[in-house]
Amino acid sequence: MRTLILSTGLVVAGASAFAFQHQISGRSDDRALPGTLPLAELQAQLAEPGAHVAFVPDAPLGLTTKLATVIPADNPLTPAKVELGRQLYFDKRLSRDGTVSCATCHDPARGWTDCEPVSTGIKGQKGGRSAPTVINRVLGRSQFWDGRAATLEEQAVGPIGNPIEMGFTVDEAAKLLDTIPGYKLQFEKVFGGPATPERIGKALAAFERTILSGACKNDYFEAAKPLFDWDPADEKDPAFKAKAEQVLAAEREHRMSAAAERGRELYFGKASCSLCHVGEDLTDELFHNLGVGFDKEKPDLGRFDKTKVEADKGAFRTPSLRNIALTAPYMHDGSLRTLREVVEHYDKGGIANPWLSNKMVPLKLTEQEKQDLVRFMEEALTGSITEVEVPRLP
Ligand code: HEC
Ligand code: HEC
Repeated sequence: MRTLILSTGLVVAGASAFAFQHQISGRSDDRALPGTLPLAELQAQLAEPGAHVAFVPDAPLGLTTKLATVIPADNPLTPAKVELGRQLYFDKRLSRDGTVSCATCHDPARGWTDCEPVSTGIKGQKGGRSAPTVINRVLGRSQFWDGRAATLEEQAVGPIGNPIEMGFTVDEAAKLLDTIPGYKLQFEKVFGGPATPERIGKALAAFERTILSGACKNDYFEAAKPLFDWDPADEKDPAFKAKAEQVLAAEREHRMSAAAERGRELYFGKASCSLCHVGEDLTDELFHNLGVGFDKEKPDLGRFDKTKVEADKGAFRTPSLRNIALTAPYMHDGSLRTLREVVEHYDKGGIANPWLSNKMVPLKLTEQEKQDLVRFMEEALTGSITEVEVPRLP
């Protein structure tokens, strides 16, 4: 499949990410144009030998979960299915007035988010929450800020029918896709029948599972850490020695600055960020109340709306901090504009309310420590992201 781009390249590095982000103009999905992918080309692609053979994406450095174990058995990834999902993801025809696609709010050029406090759907309507990134969602144990969707398949069809996002119905979207010969053909070859809401969800989820990030400076550090006291002179096993030297050399090549390393110490120590932002995707996948929004009149109750458990009031899922420098503004309501503002929020112990997490306590960080912590996030957590080209569309 020639059009499928799934390499994980280092697209941005370190602090330059900021400059990069502000230079972008226009939305990626403005370049996805209907009618630019000829039917004959699609037919040839779908007939290629590997088009329908299941595959598991290569995990970048730092992701330790075997991806084969988190891809559902009833929705294996194939090149043809991922390619269909990629087209659907960028296609504005999945919205009622043809102005909004998934990529409008989760734009690959903006860290797979929209870099707005809250998102804007069809007819300029604004929602109440900030668009999260779709990077590494294959690892997510639940979807949405409040975890209300269990799977990516379930999540993916939600926005199409949401009146203030894409404002369509998934049934209407399926009917529309069946009138477009290139889509009709792809659904038939991939799923053995016409477009249905379930199949749209599966194709989108398959595509999303290929969007991966790892290989940030912190990953190189973590990989090399067990070897910092290792002495090659004492090593008897030549295979181990070669591998270990490779790992150490990679860390030297991607070494974080002294400031970022001090920030790392704080992250895992005095600032206790790792109480919640921990593990391969820097999240515990749990829900906590940090008091975000509790300075407003009617705070979003988050997880409570799903569980109706009192203790869940104002709790939201811990987001990954990978590539966090790319996705300002921050928090479920986009209320904090910079990483510095985020650090100030934690430094004061969050915003008081009856359900505040007991892990939120004033940190008493010095000016230097605050700068180092921000530096760690900007420099050492920005890594490789699967490069995806804007598709041509049937
Ligand atoms: C109008 C903007 C908008 C559009 C269009 C949109 N989304 Fe979202 N998306 C959001 C917002 C806002 C949230 C968070 C909502 C919440 O948590 O309640 C979200 C959440 C998600 C999540 C959950 C991520 C996580 O960390 O839990 C995924 C995955 C996702 N969207 C994928 C998609 C896909 C696929 C499409 C296209 C079918 C799409 N989105 C269309 C704004 C949008
Ligand atoms: C008690 C668990 C917990 C601790 C401790 C914690 N976080 Fe968080 N973090 C969360 C949750 C939950 C959110 C989302 C909160 C919301 O939107 O209401 C979040 C959000 C963030 C965000 C914004 C992410 C985004 O995509 O918008 C950043 C940045 C962040 N935290 C950094 C840190 C840093 C730095 C520390 C240490 C000083 C820290 N966190 C400590 C749980 C925690």
